[in-house]
Order: sequence, then C-alpha cells, then structure tokens
Amino acid sequence: MIRVENLGKSFKTKEGGVDALAGISFEVKQGSFFTLLGPSGCGKTTTLRSVAGLERPDQGEITIGERKVFSSRDKIFIPGNKRDVGMVFQSYAIWPHMTVFNNIAYPLKAKRRPREEIQQRVHKALQLVGLGELGDRLAPRLSGGQQQRVALARALVAEPAVLLLDEPLSNLDAKLRNQMRWELKELQRRLGTTTLYVTHDQIEALAISDEIALMNKGRIVQLGAPRDIYASPVNEFAADFIGAANIIRGELIEGPDASGRARVKTPLGELTAAQKWRQDQQGKEVLIAFRPEQVSIMSEGQPAAGGNLLTGELQGFTYLGESTEFQVLVGSQKIQAKGEAGLALKRGSQVSLHIAVEDCLLIRRGEV
Ligand SMILES: Nc1ncnc2c1ncn2[C@@H]1O[C@H](COP(=O)(O)OP(=O)(O)OP(=O)(O)O)[C@@H](O)[C@H]1O
Ligand SMILES: [Mg+2]
Repeated sequence: MIRVENLGKSFKTKEGGVDALAGISFEVKQGSFFTLLGPSGCGKTTTLRSVAGLERPDQGEITIGERKVFSSRDKIFIPGNKRDVGMVFQSYAIWPHMTVFNNIAYPLKAKRRPREEIQQRVHKALQLVGLGELGDRLAPRLSGGQQQRVALARALVAEPAVLLLDEPLSNLDAKLRNQMRWELKELQRRLGTTTLYVTHDQIEALAISDEIALMNKGRIVQLGAPRDIYASPVNEFAADFIGAANIIRGELIEGPDASGRARVKTPLGELTAAQKWRQDQQGKEVLIAFRPEQVSIMSEGQPAAGGNLLTGELQGFTYLGESTEFQVLVGSQKIQAKGEAGLALKRGSQVSLHIAVEDCLLIRRGEV
C-alpha cells in the first residue's frame, strides 16, 4: 500500500518558482496497479521521485505499507535506500560497461548480500523477465526491449514491497510496447507487487491500470477505474486528454432535474444532456461532451429512437480498417463520428447524427 496525502513541492528556478505539485492525494491499494497519467510537466516524475525518496517534498505525508516515510509536519524523511522500493527510471539508466548479470545484481551488491544469494536471485529475476540466456552479454548489446527488461529485472531483484515505474515503455516501438505492456501487467499480477506507474500515454494507462489518477498542472483532475474515467470525464481537460471528444458550448434552458437531465441550447440546436458529476453551476453557460463512437451516423431521413438528433453535411471521412471516422459540419461546428467501415455515405451529402441522452454529458469547464 502507498498513501500520498496533500503532497506539495515547488522548485526554485532562475525565473522564479515552479509549483510542480499543488497538494495531491491518492492511495495505491495493496497489490494493485495504479497509474499517474497526464501531459508533460504535470508533476508525474516529481510524485514518483518523492515516493522513492529521491525528492524531498515541501509539504504532505507519504506512507508505504505501515511505515510513514515522509511527513512535513512530523519532520520524517526516510532516505530512498531504506524505503524498500524498486524503481525503473524514465531514461532506464542501465550501465553500459556492465554485463546484464552485473546490472541486475547491482542493488544486491550495494546491500552486501552474500555471493550465493546474489547468484540465485539474479537468475530468478532473469527468468522472470524472459532473459534467462543473456546474463553474460554486455548490456548495450541488447535490443531496446531487452534493455527495458534488464531495467525491470534490476527493479524487481530485491523483491521490493512497491514498484515505481516512470514511463518504462516510452523508448520502444509501438508493437514492442504493446507486447511489453501485456507482459508487465502479467508479471505484476503474478507477483502481486503494489505498483505505481507513470505514463503520458492514455491508451497505455487505460489498458494496464486498476486505477488511474489523471493529473494536470500539479493537481489530480480525476481519480478512478479506467472505464469510469473514459466514460464519465469530469471536465474539459479530462474529456479532451483521454480519447477523442466532441465538446460543445451551450446555455442551460432547464434542469438538471432530479434524474440529472438538462435541456441545453447550443449552436447545433437544442440537446438533452445528462449530468454525472455535481458541478458548481455559475450562470447558464455549460459544456457538453460526447465521444465520436457514441454518435450514430445515418443518411438523412432514417428514423431514430429518442435521444438527440442532429442534421449536418458530411465533409469527409477517414478509413481506419476496422472503422471509419466521419467529419460532419452541423451548423458551424465540426462533429466527429466513428462508425462501421462498410457504411456507404457520400461526401457532401446530408446526414443525421443520433446521440443517446446518457452519452451527452454535462462536464465542468476548466483544466484542473
Ligand atoms: N529539478 C527541477 N528544477 C526545477 N524545476 C523542476 C525540476 N524538476 C521538475 N521541475 C518542474 O516541475 C514540473 C513537473 O515536472 P515533472 O518532471 O514532475 O513532470 P512530468 O509530469 O514527469 O513530465 P514528463 O511527462 O515530461 O516527464 C515541471 O514544470 C518541471 O519543469
Ligand atoms: Mg516525467
């Protein structure tokens, strides 16, 4: 278990201060896979380094297992080498002049473990990451994916209570990344190691995590299971950062009522939207978001059951193999739709778009 409470950190720079973390809190449950997701500079690495004991935060508390490893109030700071964590760094930092074996053995040698034990544990770690035969090879004489595994084996070799991984797959090509993602998840499941993972890749985060903390500008914007974060973004930033979203500005006509439904006047026409998150409503301006795959596209005039119906001009489409992306101009706004590849619609024709009310979400404005 890892618990982070109200963590804050600013860096002093020549240009002034940078607020890297503006008070973030989250808990990684025992044995689970938790991901910090967010754009470059949002504070992911700073959070991870704080948990690892490589960075001293200005405020807050960090608990690993039963032990408080940092507390600004109680003036506790347990150094990194006493925290029982394994870490893979953003640039995975394996030593080029050492063999694979010695790279992996390094944390155990640093702890002055007996030779026999080192032999045994390195061998086991090599097996775990599927590099059993390559112990004697010099580390740079490996492919990117193999070097990645060496970094992972080195983080795992001391059997740490928690594993901290900072964009460990970012240097791999798409296919290898996919494969390693799957292997990593399998390994984590098998070992049951509590894992805190960092990525700016939303697809990766959705695929690999039990829970995600979506970060922006040093804060947590939304916390939840991948499915919930994708299906119910809280605000503009979350809707836009994860997956694709149509975001529409409008004015509240009525509601939200007891069941969360609201009628909204928009440049596309009147829409009925659903509210999933409580919002601090100010005035009548609201935002509506829906995903391209939630839009059904039909030639004009075909009947649709209930929900929101829009009419527009099909401006173009992109064939993607398993599906097709459509760009439709409704009023003055471009709407993206995604549908079956076989759909026979002509560029320039009038089309109808159908969006179910529960897919049209009222979301908050803003970035954090
Ligand atoms: N040592 C430092 N000195 C000054 N500013 C720093 C330092 N380390 C980080 N920062 C700043 O703190 C903010 C958060 O940085 P951090 O490295 O945590 O971002 P990140 O989310 O990991 O980004 P990336 O996806 O690019 O790795 C950034 O604005 C960064 O410039
Ligand atoms: Mg980083």
